Order: sequence, then C-alpha cells, then structure tokens
Amino acid sequence: MNPAGPNTADMMRFRVGFGWDVHRTEPGEAIIIGGVPIPAPFRLAGHSDADVLLHAITDAVLGAANLGDIGMHFPDTDPKWRNSASDVFLKHAIELAAARGYRIVNVDATVVLERPKLKDYRRPIQENISSVMGLDRGRVSVKFKTAEKTGPVGEGRSVEAQAVVLLVSGGQ
Ligand code: C5P
Ligand code: MG
Repeated sequence: MNPAGPNTADMMRFRVGFGWDVHRTEPGEAIIIGGVPIPAPFRLAGHSDADVLLHAITDAVLGAANLGDIGMHFPDTDPKWRNSASDVFLKHAIELAAARGYRIVNVDATVVLERPKLKDYRRPIQENISSVMGLDRGRVSVKFKTAEKTGPVGEGRSVEAQAVVLLVSGGQ
C-alpha cells in the first residue's frame, strides 16, 4: 500500500460482492445453515440441500468477481446438482475467483428467520464456513435476525440470507 494513502491502483485491488437468497419452508425436521444441520419444525425446499446461507455467500463471491450467479454455474434443472451439498458451489466459486487472481478478505452475512434461534449455532456455522472457504474464523461473520413476525419470513413461510464478501487481488 502506498504510504501516502491508497491510490487508484491500490483501490482497484479490492472488489465487494453482495448475495441474497430465499428458500421456502416445507414439512420436515431440520434445516442446513452454513453446512450445519439444525433441528427445526420444518425444512427448506430446494433442488440442492437448500442451504440458503451458503447460496448467498456463493453469489457474493461470484458477484465480487463479476462471474454471474449461482444458477448460471449450477442450473437447478441439471440433475447433477440434485440434493447437492452447497459447499461444492461455494468452493467452485472461490476457485473461479482465484483463477482471476482474487482471494477472500472477509465475509459478513445475515440469516433472517423467525425460528429456531440460531445464536447457539454461530460458532459451528462460522467454523464450518471458514473451513469450506479456507479462511480464519475471524474473517467469517454470521448474524441472525427475525423478521419481527412480518412478511413471509416472519410468518415462517421462508428463510432468507444476505451476504457481502470482499475480495483482494495481487500481493500482500
Ligand atoms: O430479530 P431480532 O433483532 O429480534 O433478533 C435479536 C437477536 O436474536 C439477534 O441479534 C440474534 O442474535 C438472535 N436471533 C437468533 N436466531 C434467530 C433470530 C435472532 O439467534 N432466528
Ligand atoms: Mg438457494
């Protein structure tokens, strides 16, 4: 970094990406959030394992590198991805970004669901995502919010996740 402060070339090394996802709830007994199975009075509907958090993070990585979106790389019409564990999507997105010279600086994400409470799962979720992404746990923030009983999420009909990811290219 230039001691006089960041110049344009320094700033062009950084790219932010945003991801969002939603999955409907359906009868079931567990959800998978950030790769961690969590007992719940429902499950999430989806072609893959419906891991709404990993899908949002995957889209944030793809977005930061301007590589399209998750559906472009893993179409839900392709039987190959049926019931797929979503860490496969995230790892692939990271490899695509790495091929363009980008590494991940940090991840910040929010899962919006009315219940169950997820705060006791924060550590295992952070640890699993860190291991999938090859990052220290300190670079992976995961937050939880209710929707204050409003809208489809608040009524328990769906679960949402949002994520931002910062990428950096070049040397240290
Ligand atoms: O949505 P609300 O602001 O009421 O959430 C309060 C806190 O409850 C959050 O900061 C989060 O730590 C926790 N929470 C949770 N699981 C949820 C929703 C919220 O652990 N499903
Ligand atoms: Mg999804």
